[in-house]
Amino acid sequence: MSPVRNIYLDHSATTPTDPRVVEVMLPYFTQHFGNPVSVHHFGQKAESAIESARERIAHVLNCLPSEIIFTSGASESNNLALRGTLRPGDHRPVLTTHVEHPAVSRTAAELGDVGWLLVNEWGRASLVDIRVRTAARLVSLMYANNEVGSIHDLAGFSEAAHEIGAYLHSDAVQAGGQLSLDVQALGVDMLSLSAHKFYGPKGVGLLYVREGVELHAVQTGGSHERGLRAGTHNTPLIVGMALALELATTESESRIAHLTARRDELISGVLSRIPDVRLTGHPIERLPSHASFVIDGAESNTLLMHLDMQGVAASSGSACKTGNPEPSDVLLAMGYTAAEALTGLRLTVGLSTTQDDIDYAVDVLAHAVEKVRKVRQGVMTI
Ligand SMILES: Cc1ncc(COP(=O)(O)O)c(C=O)c1O
Repeated sequence: MSPVRNIYLDHSATTPTDPRVVEVMLPYFTQHFGNPVSVHHFGQKAESAIESARERIAHVLNCLPSEIIFTSGASESNNLALRGTLRPGDHRPVLTTHVEHPAVSRTAAELGDVGWLLVNEWGRASLVDIRVRTAARLVSLMYANNEVGSIHDLAGFSEAAHEIGAYLHSDAVQAGGQLSLDVQALGVDMLSLSAHKFYGPKGVGLLYVREGVELHAVQTGGSHERGLRAGTHNTPLIVGMALALELATTESESRIAHLTARRDELISGVLSRIPDVRLTGHPIERLPSHASFVIDGAESNTLLMHLDMQGVAASSGSACKTGNPEPSDVLLAMGYTAAEALTGLRLTVGLSTTQDDIDYAVDVLAHAVEKVRKVRQGVMTI
């Protein structure tokens, strides 16, 4: 086997910040550091950078600048969307699924009145399941799944949600930088994004809120962001997010072609080299960067250690709590058994991933699976 390399195949977890984005942010830490709400020229400089970022982001999302609320990331955006639309005494539930990120599913569960929509073997909800419900305040459905990469056709769900008098919110975190974010075409009423998933900085995101949606603040304080999100703006990060989103849009064609090619090499390499492996998520309607599998007889947390030792960074859906991994909720909801769900492995390619990286990673994975299976069968010890 080739010598140890350094191959990052975990771009769904986070992406490196584009150096062009870092460069554009720097002056806002040191030179243009004023508080955007201050009346003096230091404040005005920061405020104009924020408003310009808002306009440029609105252009990409095809919405009004006033419909963008800057947040600290998608966990906050999702919380604001769910908690901010629920009215005291309103018993119309939130409809969502068990394949959502915990920032949606746990928030919904905490709110109490939740209708859980079923998902199919690809982790996708059905329109019929929404139409049979009589009323809901909000339907929250992710655009693309972080563990299995399946994409929801949001336009159809928007119609179904509106038919039962609900708003449609979408956690579009994984779609950012890979799928169209035109909120008019998608028909969403709210949409969450996080910059660190599309080569922007960590700790900044946004919630798009269509004009007319009744939303109340969750975090109270100053009157920032039309009174919907109190707290001093993080000017450098907002400026960085705007550029990262613009770059993702202008370079979209070449980026998607690159990601899709690497993803397909990875999927076909894994499926042809390793016996008893299944692709999880939709075979076609999936994120360009995303490959995910269940691998019979090879628990993913053990595999991850083997991969890491050989320089390959990947991830699993199962949370490892005190050395005792719990099966992925997403795979369980899709109908996999607990034993299968413990073998869920995610490999996500990025803009710097090469064909050689894929060949190496497939090779390392094939050897790791063989080893883990042998250890499990008692044929070999580590
Ligand atoms: C689908 C999805 N939603 C929400 C989040 C949370 O985003 P943030 O890190 O910005 O809070 C993530 C992060 O992994 C995600 O994948």
